[in-house]
Amino acid sequence: MTPAAYGSAPVLLVGGGRMGQALLKGWLNAPDIGPVFVVEPNPAAGLAALIDGQRVRLIDGPDKLPQGLAGLTGLSVIIAIKPQMFDQVLPAYKNLALAGTLILSIAAGRTLSDLGRLLGNAAGFVRAMPNTPAEVGRGITALVAGEDLAADARRRAELLMQAVGEIAWVSREDDINTVTAISGSGPAYVFLLVEALTKAGMAQGLSPDQAAQFARATIIGAGRLLEHATDSPKSLREAVTSPGGTTAAALGVLMATPHGLEEMIDQAVTAALARARALAG
Ligand SMILES: NC(=O)c1ccc[n+]([C@@H]2O[C@H](COP(=O)([O-])OP(=O)(O)OC[C@H]3O[C@@H](n4cnc5c(N)ncnc54)[C@H](OP(=O)(O)O)[C@@H]3O)[C@@H](O)[C@H]2O)c1
Repeated sequence: MTPAAYGSAPVLLVGGGRMGQALLKGWLNAPDIGPVFVVEPNPAAGLAALIDGQRVRLIDGPDKLPQGLAGLTGLSVIIAIKPQMFDQVLPAYKNLALAGTLILSIAAGRTLSDLGRLLGNAAGFVRAMPNTPAEVGRGITALVAGEDLAADARRRAELLMQAVGEIAWVSREDDINTVTAISGSGPAYVFLLVEALTKAGMAQGLSPDQAAQFARATIIGAGRLLEHATDSPKSLREAVTSPGGTTAAALGVLMATPHGLEEMIDQAVTAALARARALAG
């Protein structure tokens, strides 16, 4: 391939698992991104379906990278392997980590200094924390960079992650751990709420199917309402809470102090944050 054939925003995706595929799908809808080269030793059917041999090409390993990729203007390398593979896999990509290249890692708990240790300090490094709604283009990703990231690399990092939802830069690297505890793990908290509502409905005599239907539609509908409303969540809650009514009766339990939902969420986030910090070493 000649450098011109790489297009204006070539991307190398290392790891085509669940999150790698979510990113890839988003990039395919973003005309400014690509071509994309994917390194993935065991491509699953979902990934294979996205490989067209033109805009998205599968590469067997770092020793099979297309000629001329290293040092290519505008190259972005996205690291989407499991954190525990980091030290083993990354050194093979050191030849790509040149000035002008963006290296963006989504690996939980792997720091900017880990990237520098394994890849040298010439490239621009960004650490990002997306969440699973990225799979449907509705994720939110926190980004953090070293102080010296070039404006062009910063913009490329934004484009790559905006392809799967909202983005927000955080200024301190430790904020990535907090974001992990809020939005990274957060979808699981919401799914648990659906499960709990379903079980409560069943306990009161609804069929499992109906209980699940009402619980699921309630969370999806409330999310949509929140999305379209200009009011705060507090105002939305108050709007459905008549004094002495059914919602007030339920909220009396959920908002009790101590041991209400707020306290539980605070404890849950604190536990997730402690774990994220521990994993980050
Ligand atoms: N999923 C999330 O919600 C989420 C959110 C934020 C951040 N992340 C981060 O995203 C990263 C990927 O997570 P995931 O959920 O997508 O995990 P995953 O589905 O396991 O994806 C990782 C992929 O990397 C592949 N791989 C293994 N060795 C490789 C190598 N030497 N070169 C290239 N690819 C290799 C794996 O293949 P094999 O399966 O064959 O080993 C797998 O397909 C993790 O670091 C995670 O912390 C995930």
